[in-house]
Amino acid sequence: MSDKGNATGHEKLQSGQPGSDPSMLMQLSTAYWGSQVLLTANRMGLFDLLKDDGHSTEELASALGLQPRHLLLFLRACVGLGLLTESPAGQYRNSPLSAAFLVPGAPGFMGNAISYSDNLYDTWGQLEQTLRSGTPPMATDTYTGHDAEKTRHFVYGMHDRALGIGQAMVGIVDLTKYRRMLDIGGGPGTYSSLFARRHPELRSVVMDLPGVVAIASEIIAGLGVADRVDTLAGDYLNDHWPGGNDVVLISGVFHRESEQGCRALIDSARQALEVGGLLVVSDVFTDAGNTTPPFAALFGLNMMLTAPDGGVHADADVGQWMIDAGFTDIQYRQFPPPMPHRVVMGTRA
Ligand SMILES: C[S@@+](CC[C@H](N)C(=O)[O-])C[C@H]1O[C@@H](n2cnc3c(N)ncnc32)[C@H](O)[C@@H]1O
Repeated sequence: MSDKGNATGHEKLQSGQPGSDPSMLMQLSTAYWGSQVLLTANRMGLFDLLKDDGHSTEELASALGLQPRHLLLFLRACVGLGLLTESPAGQYRNSPLSAAFLVPGAPGFMGNAISYSDNLYDTWGQLEQTLRSGTPPMATDTYTGHDAEKTRHFVYGMHDRALGIGQAMVGIVDLTKYRRMLDIGGGPGTYSSLFARRHPELRSVVMDLPGVVAIASEIIAGLGVADRVDTLAGDYLNDHWPGGNDVVLISGVFHRESEQGCRALIDSARQALEVGGLLVVSDVFTDAGNTTPPFAALFGLNMMLTAPDGGVHADADVGQWMIDAGFTDIQYRQFPPPMPHRVVMGTRA
C-alpha cells in the first residue's frame, strides 16, 4: 500500500484539502460567546454609559453594580470583539461601530433589534425540543400584544431595522404613480411612513394586530405623517381587507406563514387591489432550493422557533404563487449587501 493510502487522520487534516480545516466548526460551536457579550452589554446599558466619555473599570463597575474583576474580563472581551477601545491608562470607550449603532439616540441605533435577539436567546436553546414537538417554545402572541414590554421591544426593534432597510426599499420600489397603499402586517408603520414621506400624494393604511398598531400610531406620528398614514387593527388571515388600493405591501410577513397561508394572503391582496395595482412582497427569501444564503436558511429556523407556521420561502416560489393567483409582470429585486432582504412584485392582471 502507498504512503498516501496509509495516511493517518492527522495527516489527512494537514493536507490542505477541502474538509481538512475544522476552524469553522470551532467558530460555530462558540459563536454564542460573542453573541452573549453583545446582548449583555446592550442590556446593561454599557454603550449608553460610554456615549460621551471614557471610564475606568472601577467607575463602570460602580455605575453598573458589577464586580470589578469580572467586569475587567468582560471589557477586555468587548475590546477584542471591536465593541470598545481601551487606552493605555485603562479607560474604556465605545468603538466607532458601537458609537454609530449601539448608543440610544444615534441615527443608526440598533439596540432595540438587539434586545429582540436577546429575548430569543433562551428560545434558541430549545431548538431540539422544537424539532421534536413541532411547537415553538415562545407563544407568538407574547410579543404581538400579550406581554406589553416584549411587544414594545419587538415593535421598536422592527422600527429600528425598518428605518435602515426602508431607505433601501423606497429606492428599490418606485411608487411614484401610486396613491393608495394597504400595508399588511405593517408593524411599526415605518415602511408606510417612509414611502409617504417620499411620495407626498401617497396615503397608506397599516393593518396589524391591536397591540401592535397602538404602538405604530406613536411611531407614525413621530415620523410626521399621521395625516396620511392610518392604522387599522385586524387579523390579516380572518378579517376583511379594505379595498380600492393601487398598491398592497406585505413586508416581513411571509416568513410567519406556510405556503397555504402565503397563497391566501396573495389572494386577499388581489381582491384588495384595483386592476393594474401592484403587489409588493418583501422578506428574507432563499434562493431556489431553500438552502442558501446561509443567513436566510438560519432565519427560517428563527421563525420556526417563534411562529407556529414560521419558516422561510424562496423568492422564485413566491413569484410562482403570484402567477398562479393571476398576477403578471413578476419582478425580483435584491437589497444591497449586507441586507438579506429581497422583493417580489407583481401586477394585478
Ligand atoms: C416581522 S413583522 C413585519 C413588520 C413590517 N411589515 C416590517 O416589514 O418591518 C410581522 C408583522 O405581522 C404582524 N402579524 C402577525 N400575525 C398577524 C395577523 N394574523 N394579522 C395581522 N398582523 C399580523 C405582526 O404583529 C408583525 O407586526
